[in-house]
Amino acid sequence: MSNAVEISNLCKNFGSKQAVCNLNMTVPMGAIYGFIGENGSGKSTTEKMICGLIPNDGGTIKLYGRDYTDIDVRAKMGVLIESPGCFPSLTVFDNMMIQAANLDIANAEQEVIKVLKKVRMEGAAGNKYKNCSLGMKQRVGIAMALLGDPMLLVLDEPLNGLDADGMRIMREVFLDIISDGKRSIIVSSHLLGELQKVATHYGIIRHGKMICQMTASQLDASCRTYVALKAKDMNKTKMILGCKYSRMELDEAEYIRIYDQTTTEQVVSYLYEQGICVTEVFTDKIGLEEYYIDLMKEGK
Ligand SMILES: Nc1ncnc2c1ncn2[C@@H]1O[C@H](COP(=O)(O)OP(=O)(O)OP(=O)(O)O)[C@@H](O)[C@H]1O
Ligand SMILES: [Mg+2]
Repeated sequence: MSNAVEISNLCKNFGSKQAVCNLNMTVPMGAIYGFIGENGSGKSTTEKMICGLIPNDGGTIKLYGRDYTDIDVRAKMGVLIESPGCFPSLTVFDNMMIQAANLDIANAEQEVIKVLKKVRMEGAAGNKYKNCSLGMKQRVGIAMALLGDPMLLVLDEPLNGLDADGMRIMREVFLDIISDGKRSIIVSSHLLGELQKVATHYGIIRHGKMICQMTASQLDASCRTYVALKAKDMNKTKMILGCKYSRMELDEAEYIRIYDQTTTEQVVSYLYEQGICVTEVFTDKIGLEEYYIDLMKEGK
């Protein structure tokens, strides 16, 4: 079966600036593809090209095995890049109805209510768009992208401005969309902790080039595990541990982390023998955020 998105050697220049440069990207069907990269790395530009909003200067984009200019595949895409084009003085419902009319959707009213319910905005359908909060506007944008039952959703920073409940709802919406294994979502975000809760695949872009693509389980396997601890005398503990373990650091929460292959039992008993009283100890592994930061450091 073909992939939802297959991109090879994609290029885009803005004058002399190479925004996207020989980029390759594969989004399997049924994936929630977390698209990550620092500011200005080319995420929105790539997404705009996938959606046909701006022309590319080279390379190919295939959607479900077909050329991305194919009108049938284009019609099955839902897009939220930057803010949705809404009329400020009209209600959320009326804005949605206009979008439904643009997309020539049958049973428009029913469909609009259905997608507003999905993002838990049915209670605010009568609000003027301009009076919506940032998070509410974001949900309206996602509801709009869901109109027409798209096969591929392209969402640029959809989690910005959402509260904890909004994030949870979005996760449910994403999982619901991909549940039949055929639909796919590309979602760019700087909220890596949130992204990690839901993404099945990742693509990391840097200076317009894809530097790494992997599945969630590949990420999990390559994230280092560590023993973290606190003790009464942290300075002495660091010194003693430094004699035995080579890969050690102090994290932001002031835990000493040991990345060498070891167990909590081994560390605690070693420190006990040295007269150190450990007050807290646990094992964990680094998450997407730290993996990403490490990768960026390596690149520099
Ligand atoms: N219309 C434009 N004209 C000129 N340069 C542009 C234009 N759009 C984007 N760029 C440049 O292309 C590069 C990639 O921008 P892009 O918006 O794709 O980055 P991004 O990864 O989405 O960043 P962010 O995380 O800040 O949203 C940047 O250097 C940006 O300044
Ligand atoms: Mg962007």
